[in-house]
Amino acid sequence: MVVLRKGDYVWVDCSDGVQIGAEVRLSDTGQLQLIDDEGKEHKIKKDNSLKPMHPTSANGVDDMIRLGDLNEAGLLRNLLVRYKEGTIYTYTGSILVAVNPYQLLPIYTPEQVEQYTDRRLGDLPPHVFAIADSCFFNMRRNRKDQCCIISGESGAGKTESTKLILQFLAAISGQHSWIEQQVLEANPILEAFGNAKTIRNDNSSRFGKYIDIHFNKRGAIEGAKIEQYLLEKSRVCRQARDERNYHIFYCMLKGMTSEQKKKLGLGKATDYTYLTSVSNAL
Ligand SMILES: Nc1ncnc2c1ncn2[C@@H]1O[C@H](COP(=O)(O)OP(=O)(O)O)[C@@H](O)[C@H]1O
Ligand SMILES: [Mg+2]
Repeated sequence: MVVLRKGDYVWVDCSDGVQIGAEVRLSDTGQLQLIDDEGKEHKIKKDNSLKPMHPTSANGVDDMIRLGDLNEAGLLRNLLVRYKEGTIYTYTGSILVAVNPYQLLPIYTPEQVEQYTDRRLGDLPPHVFAIADSCFFNMRRNRKDQCCIISGESGAGKTESTKLILQFLAAISGQHSWIEQQVLEANPILEAFGNAKTIRNDNSSRFGKYIDIHFNKRGAIEGAKIEQYLLEKSRVCRQARDERNYHIFYCMLKGMTSEQKKKLGLGKATDYTYLTSVSNAL
């Protein structure tokens, strides 16, 4: 049987089948209470259903390979504990897990770029810049192409992470030439043609993207090729409720001068069925 004391952490069974972490606290009346990570109180049962938590899970770890309780509940709690203290990045070996903060964090400054340049993966706290740096370093050392796969559900932060990796590579590749600037600046324009507001993401990419970045022998960016596939073409003429058409249409109508619009016979976005939610009540 587990003997509980104030401040102990345990795993308790949860209705959805995955265990949840809980802390033993003292109530106002001096009784032991079990409060889970979501703030819910659990009964302290005198059976064996409570499992003591490994100290690595109680405090969280940078690299989840080090977790003593290496299971689904352990992984989820580790990400939660770190997220609550404002840390969105965590490693699992050489894989980086990012949790979307939905706010601008001050962790992508030129100082951070410098800090993460030419460092071994794991020397510094987990960061998307560390992954980019490791790719760049391996490319130069081994003279071999590197590939970085970014995956996750809609709204998880793939597009933002891609941009951060590009930003980092452009910053460290040294030349600060026009071509690096062009690669970065082409992004918002390309996004306007293939990104749209959905119910899950205001800037959802409705296509798959494969970006090839070419470096010269000195490690400077010489060019980039972006391949797109499986664009959601049906969105042009039909969108789900509360979703929008591709950004480009709204940008174009908003940004053109009235003379240009007059010449092309264009009006406001609200004038067009394809661009308003009216067509969505199908
Ligand atoms: N690292 C981040 N920092 C701040 N905001 C982020 C970050 N990652 C994602 N976001 C926010 O979440 C939104 C959705 O992310 P996005 O990268 O477009 O998702 P995905 O491409 O996986 O569908 C972004 O528009 C941005 O507001
Ligand atoms: Mg995206």
